[in-house]
Amino acid sequence: MQFFLDTANLNEIREAASFGFADGVTTNPSLIAKEGNVDFKQHIAAICEIVKGPVSAEVTAQDVDGMIREGLEYSKIAPNVVIKCPLTRDGLKATRRLADEGIRVNVTLCFSPAQAILAAKAGASFISPFLGRLDDIGENGLELLQTIVEIYHNYSWKTEVLAASLRHPIHVIEAARMGADIATMPFKVIDQMFNHPLTDKGQAQFLADWAKSGRK
Ligand code: E4P
Repeated sequence: MQFFLDTANLNEIREAASFGFADGVTTNPSLIAKEGNVDFKQHIAAICEIVKGPVSAEVTAQDVDGMIREGLEYSKIAPNVVIKCPLTRDGLKATRRLADEGIRVNVTLCFSPAQAILAAKAGASFISPFLGRLDDIGENGLELLQTIVEIYHNYSWKTEVLAASLRHPIHVIEAARMGADIATMPFKVIDQMFNHPLTDKGQAQFLADWAKSGRK
C-alpha cells in the first residue's frame, strides 16, 4: 500500500519524505488555505520538488469548461501533478476529457459505491472515498472502502483506490487489510502509528540496564 500525505505543509511533507513515507501528496482547497497566502501553482511546484510521486491539485471551478481549463493549466506545473475533480456531474465530465488528454485525475468527495463505479467508468486514475467524513455522520467509512475494493477487484479498471479522510491508525490498518492501493493521511496519523507504550518502556529498560552495567 502506498502512503500519501494529506497536507500542503512543506515541513510535514519533508519530514515524512525523510522516512520514505511520502509516495505522493493530496492537497485540497482547505489544506492550501491553511498554508496562508501562498501562490497556489508555486506551492504545488514546491511540493513536487520534494515528492516525485503523484501530487493532487484540486480544481475549484464549478463547471466543466472551467475545470478542464484549470486541469490543463495545473497539469503543466510538473509531470507528477494529478488533477483532483469533485464527484459531481461536471466533475466526471471533466475527468473524462482530462483522462482522454492523458492527464491523471483523482476523483474526490466519493461517498458511495455507485459514485465509485461512475468515477472508474469516467476514466479516473484514482478514486478517493472519504472514510472519516462518513464516520462523522454515523455511517461506516470502512464498509464503503471494502465494497469499492471488492467491486474494482472484479474488473480490470485502471482506477486505484485511494482511501482518504483517514483520522487514525485503525483506518490505515484496515485499509491495508482490505487491499486499498493507497492511504492518504495527515502527518498526525503517521505520527500516531509509531506509538506503542511497550516500545518506550522496553527502550528505557534497555538503556537503564546498559548504564547500570557500567558501559559507555
Ligand atoms: C483527500 O484527498 C482529502 O484531502 C482529505 O482526505 C479530506 O480529509 P478530511 O475529511 O480530514 O478533511
